[in-house]
Amino acid sequence: MLLSRSTCLAIAGIAPVALAKLWPYQSFVTEPTFHPPVLDVTKTGDELADGLILFTPSIQSLKDINSRELAGAMIMTDEGELVWYGETATPQTNLFVQKLDGKQVLTRWHGQGSNVGHGYGSVIILDDTYSPIYEICPKPDFISNDGKEYECWADLHESFITDQDTILVTAVNTTKADLSSVGGPVDGWILDDWIFEIDPKTNETIFSWNSLSAGISLHLSKVSIESNNAGNGSSKLAAWDWFHMNSIQRIGDKYLLSSRHTWSIILLDRDGNVEWYLDGSDGGNFTLPSSDIFKWQHHARIKDSTESPLQLDCFDNSNSGWDNGTNPSSGLKLELNTQDKSVKILHRLQDLGDEIYTQSQGSFWSLDNQNHMVGYGSIPKIKEYGPDGTTRMTIRFGEDNLVQSYRSYRQEWSATPFYKPKIKVHNQTVYMSWNGATGVTQWDILAGMSKDGLKSIGTVEKKRFESSFNLTSPVPFVQIAAYSGDKLLRKSDLVSGF
Ligand SMILES: *[C@@H]1O[C@H](CO)[C@@H](O)[C@H](O)[C@H]1NC(C)=O
Ligand SMILES: *[C@@H]1O[C@H](CO)[C@@H](O)[C@H](O)[C@H]1NC(C)=O
Ligand SMILES: *[C@@H]1O[C@H](CO)[C@@H](O)[C@H](O)[C@H]1NC(C)=O
Ligand SMILES: *[C@@H]1O[C@H](CO)[C@@H](O)[C@H](O)[C@H]1NC(C)=O
Ligand SMILES: *[C@@H]1O[C@H](CO)[C@@H](O)[C@H](O)[C@H]1NC(C)=O
Ligand SMILES: *[C@@H]1O[C@H](CO)[C@@H](O)[C@H](O)[C@H]1NC(C)=O
Ligand SMILES: *[C@@H]1O[C@H](CO)[C@@H](O)[C@H](O)[C@H]1NC(C)=O
Repeated sequence: MLLSRSTCLAIAGIAPVALAKLWPYQSFVTEPTFHPPVLDVTKTGDELADGLILFTPSIQSLKDINSRELAGAMIMTDEGELVWYGETATPQTNLFVQKLDGKQVLTRWHGQGSNVGHGYGSVIILDDTYSPIYEICPKPDFISNDGKEYECWADLHESFITDQDTILVTAVNTTKADLSSVGGPVDGWILDDWIFEIDPKTNETIFSWNSLSAGISLHLSKVSIESNNAGNGSSKLAAWDWFHMNSIQRIGDKYLLSSRHTWSIILLDRDGNVEWYLDGSDGGNFTLPSSDIFKWQHHARIKDSTESPLQLDCFDNSNSGWDNGTNPSSGLKLELNTQDKSVKILHRLQDLGDEIYTQSQGSFWSLDNQNHMVGYGSIPKIKEYGPDGTTRMTIRFGEDNLVQSYRSYRQEWSATPFYKPKIKVHNQTVYMSWNGATGVTQWDILAGMSKDGLKSIGTVEKKRFESSFNLTSPVPFVQIAAYSGDKLLRKSDLVSGF
């Protein structure tokens, strides 16, 4: 996924378990299928933003990414303690706290990865009890590049909830196009990137747009057909990935999109017409302070206002699977003057002591305290930078180019699951956890000779995802109760203490 074909092939033969063992992971008695990575965290001690780390670590190769065991959406503290582990049968991306109907929700994409860096799946919206409340499963008349039929056609790259309580997703159709003007076949195959804006309550499509119908010139692509780095258009499987859209945001009644393979960030008006076009190499409709200010970029976001000058954030990969070792990747904050079409670089966030070359994926996220979080995509690192651009925290969660997280966020999130806490008694030790509960401060351990005769036999402060308590002797019935301060939140099942 999101890799050059050659990189995929190079590691496709290694079994997922072997790869996972390269990096240490955590295990739990109460949740034996959860395997979050051990985080290697470095902090300077300078102020960090509030919030938890949301990311989707996975093994990055074609075959292995479909491994259930490694396909996790995770929330962790910046000390490496697991808060929530989201399992699905298929890979996940884009775990993200957003607002829907004025309430905090958690969104995540899951689906099948494909060999040219996009996916076919759906977006699940969870409420703050982790109940799935909506599933976004577009079913357009599309063809996949691998010839398979899929149930849902939302692509992995974007799932952005708008202030109109609609959701924007990307989707990819494999379609026929005359590619002779760019040196390809007359009856060639091309990947056509679509935007769907969907009302999650009705599944109605409010807005749709596609790169080919919009008339964007194929000549703007920075990946030539001849190079065959992103397909040569000769077949569905080799469909030319000329545009590669990886983010969409609704701003007022307009849409901002990022197209990795044209190195451009584009603003569309409400009817889908191109209002302006910012090319990272030559500026497009803008004048750059110097050439090549970004390449192969991800996660373009305009901050707050729609008035000129605009503040535009993106993750500047600068590198790709076939164009590596140029400049280190960075978090880029630009000021765009849409009147005189000038561009200013406000910040370029890079760790000079730890230069990172991210070939695919990545994210850039402005935090409330003026810090910034950069997720390095195919390089399994996350960095938080202070307002002065210095690195305040680095988290590593795997081996370079083997483990990835499409995007990484720091966000505040509080939740009380709809399901009960888990309990397991093993060899006279009581183990307890409650996946995703953010408010638990203490566990009360209840035990007794009969179901009706349970008494508190001790308490444990909740410090870690899983806590434990040693029984002094076996007892027929044990139960645990989760407390937030003095407030009882929920009790577990009653189990045997033998
Ligand atoms: C997707 O591409 C196929 C093949 O060219 C085409 O038949 C179909 O109409 C396209 N879908 C849409 C919604 O345009
Ligand atoms: C919307 O689509 C989802 C996923 O296919 C489905 O579960 C849900 O029932 C649909 N909602 C409506 C209102 O049709
Ligand atoms: C196009 O790419 C495919 C797959 O990599 C390859 O088999 C084929 O030979 C290429 N065709 C041309 C004309 O380069
Ligand atoms: C903006 O750039 C596009 C792509 O190069 C070009 O087609 C268009 O004419 C430009 N628009 C303006 C107003 O310069
Ligand atoms: C990309 O280039 C950098 C800088 O030269 C190098 O350190 C890194 O190993 C390269 N990555 C790959 C996958 O070759
Ligand atoms: C059970 O606990 C005892 C005492 O702590 C220990 O000696 C023994 O090895 C444990 N047995 C197992 C199977 O874990
Ligand atoms: C519980 O027992 C285990 C092994 O039997 C021991 O390592 C651990 O320190 C004990 N915990 C407490 C709190 O006594």
